[in-house]
Amino acid sequence: MSHADDHEGTRRDFLYYATAGAGVVATGAAVWPLVNQMNPSADVAALASIRVDVSGIEPGTQLTVKFLGKPVFIRRRTPDEIEAAKAVDVSALPDPEARNANLDEGIPATDDNRALQPEGEASEEWLVMMGVCTHLGCVPLGNGAGDFGGWFCPCHGSHYDTAGRIRKGPAPENLPVPVARFEGTEIVLG
Ligand code: FES
Repeated sequence: MSHADDHEGTRRDFLYYATAGAGVVATGAAVWPLVNQMNPSADVAALASIRVDVSGIEPGTQLTVKFLGKPVFIRRRTPDEIEAAKAVDVSALPDPEARNANLDEGIPATDDNRALQPEGEASEEWLVMMGVCTHLGCVPLGNGAGDFGGWFCPCHGSHYDTAGRIRKGPAPENLPVPVARFEGTEIVLG
């Protein structure tokens, strides 16, 4: 009996390697148009899944990639950023829910529930989020922006912390964590 019905290879072929089309960026909104030009065309971006090699991202920097037409922030956090995020009383947050598509709905917005863990590691270094403000959809500025050292949306003044949780301003929800997983040094989105 043949294995003609084994579609594993087909799925792998369908994945798009985003690394070549993305760059490490210093800020969010200011450089987004540039990164956007470097990203795959609309038809490629519409693929259901992309891979991003994150081996070159240093702690304290982030990569912005385009996925399903929207920016996704991939940040490798410093120990200070993680510590600041863990020190927060989750019950006092404007949005106490994790908003993590990889976990159950409604679970608390602890740092642990927001971070993406590499295979076999308990590290909370990596944060992967849609780079779209939950107020009216602007792209927040990153790299320590805002009053809480995370991201700041200049459109109407929403401040997100180092775990991407809304802390101040009109945005109603934390920046959402998309479906994502680590495979070696790559993050697979979707
Ligand atoms: S769109 Fe971000 S604060 Fe309004």
